[in-house]
Amino acid sequence: MEVEIVVLLWRHHEVPITPPKLSQYALALSSLCQDPRQFHGHDLIGTLQHHEAVHDLEFAYASLAICSAKAHLRKKQIRRLLDIARSANGHNIDTLAMTILALRCIVKDHRHRNIHNSLRSPSVSLAKKQQSDGGFENLYNTALSMLALHDAHDINTLWNKTAAVSFIESKQDPDGAFTDPGLTAEVILALSSKGLGAIRNLDCGKLDTDYENHVDLDGLTKSLQYHGNDSDPRNVTITYTLWVGTNITENYTLAITAPRNSSFYNIMQMAMEADPKFSFEASEWPNGHYVHTLAGYKEEPMGYHYWLLYRLPEVPDALAPPANHMVAPVGTLFL
Ligand SMILES: *[C@@H]1O[C@H](CO)[C@@H](O)[C@H](O)[C@H]1NC(C)=O
Ligand SMILES: *[C@@H]1O[C@H](CO)[C@@H](O)[C@H](O)[C@H]1NC(C)=O
Ligand SMILES: *[C@@H]1O[C@H](CO)[C@@H](O)[C@H](O)[C@H]1NC(C)=O
Ligand SMILES: *[C@@H]1O[C@H](CO)[C@@H](O)[C@H](O)[C@H]1NC(C)=O
Ligand SMILES: *[C@@H]1O[C@H](CO)[C@@H](O)[C@H](O)[C@H]1NC(C)=O
Ligand SMILES: *[C@@H]1O[C@H](CO)[C@@H](O)[C@H](O)[C@H]1NC(C)=O
Repeated sequence: MEVEIVVLLWRHHEVPITPPKLSQYALALSSLCQDPRQFHGHDLIGTLQHHEAVHDLEFAYASLAICSAKAHLRKKQIRRLLDIARSANGHNIDTLAMTILALRCIVKDHRHRNIHNSLRSPSVSLAKKQQSDGGFENLYNTALSMLALHDAHDINTLWNKTAAVSFIESKQDPDGAFTDPGLTAEVILALSSKGLGAIRNLDCGKLDTDYENHVDLDGLTKSLQYHGNDSDPRNVTITYTLWVGTNITENYTLAITAPRNSSFYNIMQMAMEADPKFSFEASEWPNGHYVHTLAGYKEEPMGYHYWLLYRLPEVPDALAPPANHMVAPVGTLFL
């Protein structure tokens, strides 16, 4: 995907990148914990901000992408979303659902909490657009509506989620797909509890920079001063657990205190100094360190000897091993 984006950016004078495409890439990068504002020297969010989308749907999609990257929307942009929300009945299902997703993202910013109230009316309008077959017009709109209504617990009774799921399931092709890969991906997002609306909340292990880029939005929201201590402690303590073998034949845990911005490679070095059981060997490559030996075992990909790095909120439990999606998004091989 990165190569694809680079090629598109490179050729954008011949073939302009459309805002929806740019929004889609920005969302994908954000969901991978990469900053679309710093994509190999390109600011995808800045480019997106530069285009004033003509269509409300494109505009709402771009707003969601900007907000999900933790970038700021302009006052004027938030007003436009609120205008769409206010005139909900005059808008198509997809526009409405995307606007709700964008606004739901925006209210996660502490400065915009007070526009939370403006979400109810468009959510009610959207819920009422569910049809007797359980769907919202078509597969795509049904998936998008489910994502938009996912967190709207106060209006749970105004639409029937079970019926929407049944509608989606009835559209599955014999090969398991839903028409095409794009639509299949949307459907999978809708059926899982996490979707487009959850990207901003991803914990990418970085400090929330929201508080630094303060922009005053007088008149629209009252800015709340942040009183946290977050920038204060420069060190963090993490526990590093090493499990060896399919049946966990060796098990070591170590607590390491290190500067907040340390790479995991630094942590591994500190662990090795503290306890030889955590020793490892790595080779250096232009894109990072390749760890080929860990705890005395040399990697043998063909013999299924390899290692995975999981990033977990707590010390892992052998009876409930961490799920595959907890594998760290970056640096399973290169750190
Ligand atoms: C929701 O839809 C399901 C499946 O169509 C149906 O069985 C159920 O009775 C509906 N629930 C309500 C509250 O209407
Ligand atoms: C920061 O945390 C310390 C102790 O954890 C507390 O005493 C202090 O009041 C906090 N400062 C702010 C601005 O909240
Ligand atoms: C792991 O344990 C299971 C059951 O105790 C056993 O059948 C299996 O052979 C073990 N695997 C290895 C790699 O030791
Ligand atoms: C932070 O951790 C480093 C070791 O990684 C230690 O040398 C330093 O004293 C710590 N600083 C604070 C403020 O705890
Ligand atoms: C961490 O931050 C310090 C000070 O801001 C900087 O000197 C250091 O290079 C950073 N380390 C990494 C691994 O980014
Ligand atoms: C690993 O060791 C810790 C304590 O050292 C223990 O609580 C945990 O159950 C062990 N896990 C496994 C899989 O043996």
